[in-house]
Amino acid sequence: DSDLYLVYHGLMLPKVAHSEESLKYLENFQVKDDDVFAVTYPKSGTTWMQEILPPLLNGGDLTSVETVPNWDRAPWLEETRAPLVLDKLPSPRAIVSHMQYQLMPSSFFKSKAKVIYVTRNPKDVIVSSFHFHQMASFLEDPGTFEEFTDKFLSGKVLFGKWTDHVKSWRKPELGDRIMYITYEEMVQDLHDALSRILKFLGRELSAEALDRVVDHCTFKNMKTNKMSNYSLVPQDIMDNMKSPFLRKGVAGDWKNHFSPELDAKFTAVIQEEMKGKHGEQNFLV
Ligand code: PPS
Repeated sequence: DSDLYLVYHGLMLPKVAHSEESLKYLENFQVKDDDVFAVTYPKSGTTWMQEILPPLLNGGDLTSVETVPNWDRAPWLEETRAPLVLDKLPSPRAIVSHMQYQLMPSSFFKSKAKVIYVTRNPKDVIVSSFHFHQMASFLEDPGTFEEFTDKFLSGKVLFGKWTDHVKSWRKPELGDRIMYITYEEMVQDLHDALSRILKFLGRELSAEALDRVVDHCTFKNMKTNKMSNYSLVPQDIMDNMKSPFLRKGVAGDWKNHFSPELDAKFTAVIQEEMKGKHGEQNFLV
């Protein structure tokens, strides 16, 4: 749908958040060595990382997560707000991106900037995305869940194929610049996840400060934080009454949406595409 999306290197991006200019800004962006990127395929934990990273990078201060909307405290590299926000953001900057590896700005590859790559079970990604398409007026009608699954598997969805995205970021050359974590690990033990992220960032917090950040980043508390729950966006753009942006926040909701037949088909396609050197991790938990 060319009214809603623009196509960038074969990927569909929503026009509400991206423009030719913002993509030029992305290409020419000067990455700093102390920048920290959280990279995700959409609906895999982006908003969560926008809540987690700022306090971990600033000594546990929760002021920014309580007073600044998520899109301005940890902006998307490729969105139209980036030029307005990123140049003014104090370092170390937390930046999020849905970009595939090869589409990162050239300065990224020469930098020492760290990356936290978050994956989520693609079955839950598609469920979350399906509901998101129903509440966001800037996205096309997803059709039935089965129809949407076909689009997802063929990559005719935002930011392209899930398997291409995940495989693009499995890059041994990134060495210890990249940390891989899953949404499911974060759901299971948020405290442990944040401790590991903190260590990866080479930072320390007192036990009390870390506990405070963990508590702040729970689903329940983020859901009531208007700086993070998208209630600041007008209802005709995102209708939280139809389906809240912070919807369920669980692992395994796919079981309520997939028929056994659809599950078998989906699993077969994902497993086939993840075969080989990328296949060592089973994402279909
Ligand atoms: S987006 O549009 O790409 O920025 O979306 P993204 O933030 O990546 O993904 C949205 C899903 O993440 C869930 N979420 C959380 N789950 C558990 N705990 C916390 N704190 C949390 N914060 C966000 C959010 O609820 C969406 O998943 P679903 O399954 O739809 O609930």
